[in-house]
Amino acid sequence: MESTKLFLPFFSLFFTLSLLSGLGLARHHHHQHRHLQLSKLFVFGDLYVDTGNTSPSDPNYPKTPYGVTFPGHPDGRFSNGRVLTSYAARILGLKSPIPYRVVEKEGVEGAKDGVNFAYGGTGVFKTGYDLPTMTTQIDFLQHLIANSTFTPQDINSSFALVSVSGNDYSYYLSTNGSIKGFIPLIVRVVKQIGVNLKRIHSLGVKKISITALGPLQCVPEITSSSDFKHCNSSLALLVDFHNLLLRQAVDKLNKETNDAPFFILDLHAAFLSIIQNKGDPQGSIKFATPLQPCCHGTSRGYYCGSVDEDGQKKYVLCEDPNSAFFWDDVHPTQQGWIAALTFLISAMKQHV
Ligand SMILES: *[C@@H]1O[C@H](CO)[C@@H](O)[C@H](O)[C@H]1NC(C)=O
Ligand SMILES: *[C@@H]1O[C@H](CO)[C@@H](O)[C@H](O)[C@H]1NC(C)=O
Ligand SMILES: *[C@@H]1O[C@H](CO)[C@@H](O)[C@H](O)[C@H]1NC(C)=O
Ligand SMILES: *[C@@H]1O[C@H](CO)[C@@H](O)[C@H](O)[C@H]1NC(C)=O
Repeated sequence: MESTKLFLPFFSLFFTLSLLSGLGLARHHHHQHRHLQLSKLFVFGDLYVDTGNTSPSDPNYPKTPYGVTFPGHPDGRFSNGRVLTSYAARILGLKSPIPYRVVEKEGVEGAKDGVNFAYGGTGVFKTGYDLPTMTTQIDFLQHLIANSTFTPQDINSSFALVSVSGNDYSYYLSTNGSIKGFIPLIVRVVKQIGVNLKRIHSLGVKKISITALGPLQCVPEITSSSDFKHCNSSLALLVDFHNLLLRQAVDKLNKETNDAPFFILDLHAAFLSIIQNKGDPQGSIKFATPLQPCCHGTSRGYYCGSVDEDGQKKYVLCEDPNSAFFWDDVHPTQQGWIAALTFLISAMKQHV
């Protein structure tokens, strides 16, 4: 159950004015860069980017407060509204692509903007769920190329958004958890991320972004023991180690290719800065108590959306989700994502 938590929700609204003005600024700063003509977005990873592959099988699906801000009901995003995918797509001038689940059910008709292969709860390795690991998600794209759903030209103008937000680690913590085994696990996880990125590139994808591991030491699941007041510094060391190895891996991959297609989306710096500064860098979005989640279980063993055997709610919900950075025990609110994107816009613009 612990591991489920680390990988839950996200969400969304309309692009706010602040994000739009951020986009405008970024454009001014970077207009000297040539822009790639991108036509498709492929998304791999977990619930930071899943827009509907995983949660419909959740028995609580129709009842939880997920999606309360957008679209008004749970629809597969782990937040109160939109998640990273929608905003990243907009920055790239693309549409948020349909979930692979829809392709499986209804065919490739709706896939002209790309496909979202991300499944919440998954890692680069198995995490205890019967869900496609990232390797399998990449197999799905390979099949769609092999059966001519996507042409080489389609792939040649496509962008990959890859998210690894830590499910491999929460699964490990919930099943084994020895600190001794943690460091070798990080090495294996980052190595596999490198293999995956290289494979996505070898399929012909033009630009490939990979998320840095966020500050897991500050997620409500961890900080609840200090009443949402303090990040856990021993976890911070492990997170930093992951990100150091990831940077080295991405640098190495870029040296091995002539068009430097890989780059890191630094969610770690973005989230930490928002937490430390209680808002975004422009000061247009504020979070008075950034470690306090909007939606959380009333006691141990209950989560955002939990009900007991009698159907009684076992969670509390804040009045205004826009006032919170974290939506639930692990995932940012839509407003949290918008704030984070103000950090990521210029990096993304630089690379496309
Ligand atoms: C390719 O595979 C997808 C997913 O299984 C399917 O929906 C589509 O019809 C296939 N396309 C062709 C041309 O076979
Ligand atoms: C892919 O795009 C590059 C230019 O960015 C071009 O040189 C190359 O021929 C294209 N390849 C395919 C398969 O379309
Ligand atoms: C748990 O960790 C220990 C040492 O780190 C390792 O030897 C063992 O194989 C692990 N067990 C599982 C089930 O992963
Ligand atoms: C920080 O996290 C580690 C690993 O989960 C745990 O062993 C430790 O007790 C935590 N420290 C605090 C102060 O909560």
